[in-house]
Amino acid sequence: MVVDTMQRPLRDLRISITDRCNFRCRYCMPKEIFNREYEFLQRDLLLSFEEITRLTHILTDLGVARVRITGGEPLLRRGVESLVADLAALPLRDLTLTTNGSLLARKAETLADAGLRRVTVSLDSLDQGVFAAMNDVDFPVSDVLAGIDAAASAGLTPIKVNMVVKRGVNSGEILPMAQHFRGTGHIVRFIEFMDVGMSNGWRLDDVVPAQEILDTIAERYPIEPVEPNYTGEVAGRWRYVDGAGEIGVITSISKPFCGDCTRARLSAEGVLYTCLFATGGVDLRAPLRDGSDDAEIAALLRATWENRDDRYSQRRSEATVNLPKVEMSYIGG
Ligand code: GTP
Ligand code: 5AD
Ligand code: SF4
Ligand code: SF4
Repeated sequence: MVVDTMQRPLRDLRISITDRCNFRCRYCMPKEIFNREYEFLQRDLLLSFEEITRLTHILTDLGVARVRITGGEPLLRRGVESLVADLAALPLRDLTLTTNGSLLARKAETLADAGLRRVTVSLDSLDQGVFAAMNDVDFPVSDVLAGIDAAASAGLTPIKVNMVVKRGVNSGEILPMAQHFRGTGHIVRFIEFMDVGMSNGWRLDDVVPAQEILDTIAERYPIEPVEPNYTGEVAGRWRYVDGAGEIGVITSISKPFCGDCTRARLSAEGVLYTCLFATGGVDLRAPLRDGSDDAEIAALLRATWENRDDRYSQRRSEATVNLPKVEMSYIGG
């Protein structure tokens, strides 16, 4: 086991397997920047599934017990099921994936067969017009809902549904989303719009603080807090008093949770970041490809984590908001 300068262990690994996506969410990949001229990573720069699995195996020896596959949109990468199968063979407590749901109806069954435990689906609105205003593509909400149903049938549960809330754009959808998923067993998580990357034009005025979200829901359906599933869980848990299930809030802006942060992030090209808001990371592709053995790579990973002092969300200020941070689509959220 390894701990950082603030005694935080390394427990979670988020693996981005592509920086591409078929959506253009305004808060993540705005069209003006992620257009035809944008240079996505070339295929030969991406870590292979073998390389990802080798690294993850080394990281399990250092304490990683939960792995989440992300993107961009991870289901766009060909053969993702075989990566899932490779990772499922490692000693992990959790193996999950965050997706926009567009390909889920087609892939849920094979992902579950490969050993995926559950999925988290991003869905910012049930209203077709508002959904399109958030993701800037013409994609039917009903297809995402069909993806969620397919994931439920395949046993990829409990399903979490992520809604990034932007004031004045989809903030009117808070109650409809809560209402729709109450009683289904799926857990809607309301996420404060974050200042990730450099291109989403983040402004504090666009953020709806979690307390306001909870008040909106509680006015209609009484809720009460629930203990976290584990130390360092990102979402604050709440349940409906009438037993209709659970919701979550992710309070990166109004109530940062860096003190318990046990997450490392691996980009699709093999750079390891110790914070979502990092300006730089450690290249692992070179050592993976120059013949370094597992012990050498483990030593590099250990030293990186031991040096870690990140707590960006707690230090957020005028100055940090303008630092050259990596994009959400590159680092996987
Ligand atoms: P589970 O609790 O296992 O379901 O996963 P999760 O909530 O960590 O993962 P998910 O991919 O659903 O992320 C939910 C939201 O939390 C996204 O907006 C992430 O960008 C954000 N998030 C995840 N980890 C961190 C973190 O370490 N710091 C901050 N600031 N935000 C995070
Ligand atoms: N702020 C908050 N959440 C974001 N996500 C993407 N960009 C942002 C942002 N700027 C969410 C996605 C997905 C998760 C991985 O991160 O909607 O559900
Ligand atoms: Fe794609 Fe997810 Fe980013 Fe939206 S938030 S553009 S679905 S990677
Ligand atoms: Fe962890 Fe960085 Fe998020 Fe803080 S801002 S919780 S250190 S990833």
